[in-house]
Amino acid sequence: MALRFSLLVLSPLLLLCCCHGIKAHKDGEDPTTIKTMQDFSGYPIQEPHFPNSLSLLSVDTLSLQKQIDELSTFSDTPAPSVTRILYSEKDVLARSFIKNLMGFAGLSVREDAVGNIFGRWDGYEPELAAVSTGSHIDAIPYSGKYDGVVGVLGAIEAINVLQRSGFKPKRSLEVIMFTSEEPTRFGISCLGSRLMAGSEALEKALKKTVDSKNISFLDAARSAGYAKGEEDLSSVFLKKGIYSAFVELHIEQGPILEEEGISIGIVTAIAAPASIKVDFEGNGGHAGAVLMPNRNDAGLAAAELALAVEKHVLDSESIDTVGTVGILELHPGAINSIPSKSHLEIDTRDIDEDRRNTVIEKIHHSALAIAQKRDVKLSEFKIVNQDPPALSHDSIIKAMEASSQELNLAHKLMISRAYHDSLFMARISPMGMIFIPCYKGYSHKPEEFSSNEDIANGVKVLALTLAKLSLY
Ligand code: GLV
Ligand code: MN
Ligand code: MN
Repeated sequence: MALRFSLLVLSPLLLLCCCHGIKAHKDGEDPTTIKTMQDFSGYPIQEPHFPNSLSLLSVDTLSLQKQIDELSTFSDTPAPSVTRILYSEKDVLARSFIKNLMGFAGLSVREDAVGNIFGRWDGYEPELAAVSTGSHIDAIPYSGKYDGVVGVLGAIEAINVLQRSGFKPKRSLEVIMFTSEEPTRFGISCLGSRLMAGSEALEKALKKTVDSKNISFLDAARSAGYAKGEEDLSSVFLKKGIYSAFVELHIEQGPILEEEGISIGIVTAIAAPASIKVDFEGNGGHAGAVLMPNRNDAGLAAAELALAVEKHVLDSESIDTVGTVGILELHPGAINSIPSKSHLEIDTRDIDEDRRNTVIEKIHHSALAIAQKRDVKLSEFKIVNQDPPALSHDSIIKAMEASSQELNLAHKLMISRAYHDSLFMARISPMGMIFIPCYKGYSHKPEEFSSNEDIANGVKVLALTLAKLSLY
């Protein structure tokens, strides 16, 4: 029997479909006569397909918080910090934890050659492109327990919410746990999603990539049970159009939502990130015996370049340009030895790609000039990634807005200054992101925190957005 829809649920759906240019009624038909999902969709409905009432969207906050807490124990540093590095023992355990939760939610689980994990809930038209959602669970050294995790555990809970409500998706819904969003181990950010989006350059590079202990990417992946017998990782590539939508739930990692008392951030664009590796080499020598005029100190070259990074960023005169030297290593690292080698890793981002590129050029120019002035060798200046920004898709922004409105949650449009797997998913699918507030905007440190209520709100908006997108 056809299901009657409350106007509350039906009207936003109609609105969304209008925005898409999808016809919710046949030409010449009066749209106000549409009363049922069957009328709306134009195909027979045998079962309930949409929650009758938004009150059915109930999040099991207690279980979700328990899962977040439990996942945080798979860490290489003591609580409250979390450190979970790609393919480490703790990462492998955490992956099992996620696969189990996907299994409990009734999802069919598969993994690709680099360990991106997919959990699918088949829709009643499974041949259609699926709607996907997800994030990452790897954690940089001494970080917190919410970054990425909320978007993976929250996505699984969003599926549970929809299942408990009696919803049946038309398009399949897929939860993705991306491999290594953080660049910690191999220096490559969004490794899983970048590869999924078809980066041939990365596919090639991974054959030769090693970590700081000289363990190759392929050996590390194999030790975690992936890339078995494969060198060619192009099997990870997904075709453009495989998903009709991708939505990522994430903590804001900035203070705006909390400061303004707004529950939901709807991301319109993700800033353009880039990262650079630099090596200087000098002669080194004895800290007492080599007099100052006779030195070529690779450490001081690095220090000077770090300050140049700050100067070039500030010279852009835009608050949106940022630059960070997050890694600065000196060799041999002895108090009484002049550094003979230095290594810097520089992160720079902007919402304006050209302006960010100008900063990169200036950093390169400074590196050359410093090397010449200090008589050290600039042995490496490698732009590891120089990614363009990504825009959220209008249709997904509208679905997220409508969902927030129906749930009576204050929301605002905002940009993401942090990067996310969504940056790469946007290459193969229409993309959108939902932000929730986090305490003082703290992230990438142990004090990172989001309340149960904020997480539950995010999960509800995600669930409703997925439901809407699955019915297109
Ligand atoms: C993501 O972790 C970022 O650094 O933006
Ligand atoms: Mn992060
Ligand atoms: Mn993240």
